[in-house]
Amino acid sequence: MDKIVIQGGKSLSGRVNISGAKNAVLPIMAAALLVDGKTVIDNVPDLRDTRTMIRLLEMVGARGRFGSHRLEIDAGPVDTPVAPYDLVKTMRASFYVLGPLLSRFGRAKVSLPGGCAWGPRPVDFHLKGLEKLGAEITLEGGYIQAQADYLTGATIHFEIPSVGATGNLLMAAVRARGTTVIENAAREPEIVQLGEFLQSMGARIEGLGTDEITIEGVASLRPTQVTVIPDRIEAGTFLIAGAALGRITVDQVRPDHLKVVLEKLEEAGAEIRVEASSITIQRPDSIQPVNMSTAVYPGFPTDLQAQWIALMALAEGTSIITDTIYHDRFSHVPELQRLGANITLEKNVAVVIGQQELIGAPVMSTDIRASASLILGGLAARGRTEISRVYHIDRGYEKIEEKFRTLGASIERVSE
Ligand code: UD1
Repeated sequence: MDKIVIQGGKSLSGRVNISGAKNAVLPIMAAALLVDGKTVIDNVPDLRDTRTMIRLLEMVGARGRFGSHRLEIDAGPVDTPVAPYDLVKTMRASFYVLGPLLSRFGRAKVSLPGGCAWGPRPVDFHLKGLEKLGAEITLEGGYIQAQADYLTGATIHFEIPSVGATGNLLMAAVRARGTTVIENAAREPEIVQLGEFLQSMGARIEGLGTDEITIEGVASLRPTQVTVIPDRIEAGTFLIAGAALGRITVDQVRPDHLKVVLEKLEEAGAEIRVEASSITIQRPDSIQPVNMSTAVYPGFPTDLQAQWIALMALAEGTSIITDTIYHDRFSHVPELQRLGANITLEKNVAVVIGQQELIGAPVMSTDIRASASLILGGLAARGRTEISRVYHIDRGYEKIEEKFRTLGASIERVSE
C-alpha cells in the first residue's frame, strides 16, 4: 500500500489545472448503457473510481477505451445486466447502472452497496422511485432485482433531494412511456450535466437545475459526445489550500459552481480574483474563523466539509461546522487531532478552536475527502506527516501529490 509523505510548513504558489468532475463522469458513464452504440466522453479524470466504472461497464458487456482523458464506451454488445457485489461495494456510484440497465433490458440485478465509512447511506429513494415507474423490485442474496416489461411515467417526490436517486431516475425515465415528474430533485451541476447529456442523446427533459424535473419519455436515444465539467470539489480543495498556505490559481474551473465556497473563503479573509475559467486566491495574514453548515447545492458541499475543518484548525478563533447531509462524516477529526488540531465533536457538529500551528504526525486516511483534509493538515503542519491508506484519495483526485508539488509542496508517494 502506498503512503503520502509530506514535509509541511512550506508556502505554496502557482497554478494548477482542475480535472473533470468525478461525480459528473460516473453517472454519464452509466448513461452510456442506454444506447446501442459508441459514446465519447472527454475531460475524463483518471481516477480509481473512473476505472472501477469502466470495469463494471465491461463486466456487463460494454467495450471501453480510455486514454488521454478521452473515454469511448461502446454499449452495443451489453448483454449481462448484472452489477456484482465485489465492484459495487468498492464504489457506491456503481448503483447508477440500475436505472439505465432496467430501462434498456427490462431487468437488472445490482448488488446493494452496503455501508460506508460515513455511516448508513440508504438507496430507498432510488428503489421507491423505480417502483413508481412500474418496476417490480425484490431483494435476494444481497442483490436488488428489478423487472418491468416497460416503465411508465409517474410523479416521484423525494423527502430530501438526493443526487444519486435523481440521476438514477432520470436515466430510468428518459425512455419510459409518458411523463415523469421528479419533485424535490437534486440541483447539483453534475445532475444538470447528466440531464444535458441525456438531452443530447435525444431525451426530452425540462427543469434541470431546479427542484422539479419533467421528463417526457422518448422511444429511442442515439449515442453522442460530451465534455465533463470541471470538478468543483477538487477546485475547492486547492482553493482552501491557497487560503491556508499561499497564492494559488486554479485553472479550467467553473466559478459559478463555487459561489458559496468563494463567499466563505472571503469571510475567512482570503483575497479572491475570479476570471472566466480561473480563480486566484491569496492567503490572509490571519485566517478568520467562519461557521459553516453543509447543504444541498447551491449550499456549501458536504464533500468540502473535511477540508474546511482543516482550514479552520488554523484560524484565529473558534468556528462551528455542521454537516446536515451526512451526520457521521467526521472520520478525519481524530486524525487531524493527531496533528494538534483542537476539535470537539458532538453528533454532527464540530467545534474547532484554531491553533497557531499544527505538528506533523503519522495519520490514516479513511475516505476520499477525509484524505484531502489530512493532506491539507499535513501541508500546513510543521515537520513530517505520513498518510497511510492513500488509495482512498486516488478514488477522487487525479495525481494530487504531483499537483501540490508543482505548487512548491514537499509531498511524495512512497510504496510501503
Ligand atoms: C453524492 C455524491 C457524494 C456527495 C453526496 C451529497 C456522487 C457519486 N456522490 O452521493 O460525493 O457527498 O452526493 O452531495 O455523486 N438518502 C436517503 N435515501 C436514498 C438516497 C439518499 O436517505 O435513497 C439520503 C442520504 O443518506 C443523504 C442524503 O439523502 O443524507 C443525500 O444523499 P445523496 O444526495 O443521495 O448522495 P449520493 O448520491 O450517494
